[in-house]
Amino acid sequence: MKAAITATAKYLPANILSNHDLELMLETNDEWIRSRTGISERRILKDPEKATSFMCGEVARQLLEKRGITASEIELIIVATMTPDMLFPSTACLVQSIIGADNAWAFDLNAACSGFLYALNTAARFIECGTHKKVMVIGADKMSSIIDYTDRSTAILFGDGAGGVILEPATSEGCGILDTRMYSDGASGKNHLLMTGGGSLNPASHETIDKKMHYIYQDGRQVFKSAVIAMAEVAAEIMSRNNLTADDIDYLVPHQANQRIISATAERMGVDESKVMSNVAMYGNTTAGTIPICLAELDEQQKLHSGSNLVLVSFGAGYTWGGIYVKWQ
Ligand code: UT7
Repeated sequence: MKAAITATAKYLPANILSNHDLELMLETNDEWIRSRTGISERRILKDPEKATSFMCGEVARQLLEKRGITASEIELIIVATMTPDMLFPSTACLVQSIIGADNAWAFDLNAACSGFLYALNTAARFIECGTHKKVMVIGADKMSSIIDYTDRSTAILFGDGAGGVILEPATSEGCGILDTRMYSDGASGKNHLLMTGGGSLNPASHETIDKKMHYIYQDGRQVFKSAVIAMAEVAAEIMSRNNLTADDIDYLVPHQANQRIISATAERMGVDESKVMSNVAMYGNTTAGTIPICLAELDEQQKLHSGSNLVLVSFGAGYTWGGIYVKWQ
């Protein structure tokens, strides 16, 4: 039995932070940001009372409505995030409470920018083994909560957003999540993209605040080099394992960190730009949100048809990376 995506949804906060807004806050400029990253603007969840679970709740409600099911029918909720509302309880439990999914169990999964692919892969196993029939998988991050808006090397890159899917047993022969390949490399990645404060190593203290340890730190050049190689390699591996040529692929859905990384991945795969999903210009990098937001937009635009071949690829902190081949049902 295969697992198929039966509904998609996204939530982006209304508030826009444009490159021009950032020009007023930082030593940067629109031209630099667009040419180095492809980003023009990102969304920010401004309301201090609202956090990641709010965005997930908006996604979850839409998913139920689109699929025409009640919250009680959901058996498992997995939220991929690295910006949970709080360290515990999990954001997935908060989402369960928001929608009233009283028959579900729920947990968070943290694999940074690869969180959604890790979660989708995990969720698929529960469907494939026959124990679960309806699983909700959401990827969401309120990146503005961990960004230092005086640091131009990270402030320009990230935005807030959420997306998600419902997974169910595939009903069309040969459709669903057909292949998954996940990687981690903590030895190479652990020092290049991280947030050191607020965990059990450096619990919150005046010192951690003074040292700005509750903000994201990234060695951008290093991460860029690794991302370009790893995303292209895992995409090529998914293609060769499934005998897919570039022509067979209807859409490449890459993690949205930087347009240059997206284009390099597509070029290595030989996939034409017209088949590459990109919305990084509008939303920046929403971390675990990027891929499900892309899926929801393709779905809204009615570009996904039965038999469409999608290759999803991601790379992020850890390092974590991976690829998933989906034949749309
Ligand atoms: O999703 C998780 C994975 N994360 C990623 O995939 C991000 C990967 N990294 C990147 O996307 C890129 O490395 C960045 C966009 C972060 C940076 O682009 P880059 O082409 O690697 O630039 P750089 O860091 O090598 O900096 C080039 C120059 C430097 O000046 P000098 O040393 O050449 O004089 C920087 O100081 O650009 C300068 N610079 C800026 N200038 C204007 C760095 N940030 C900015 C800025 N505005 N915001």
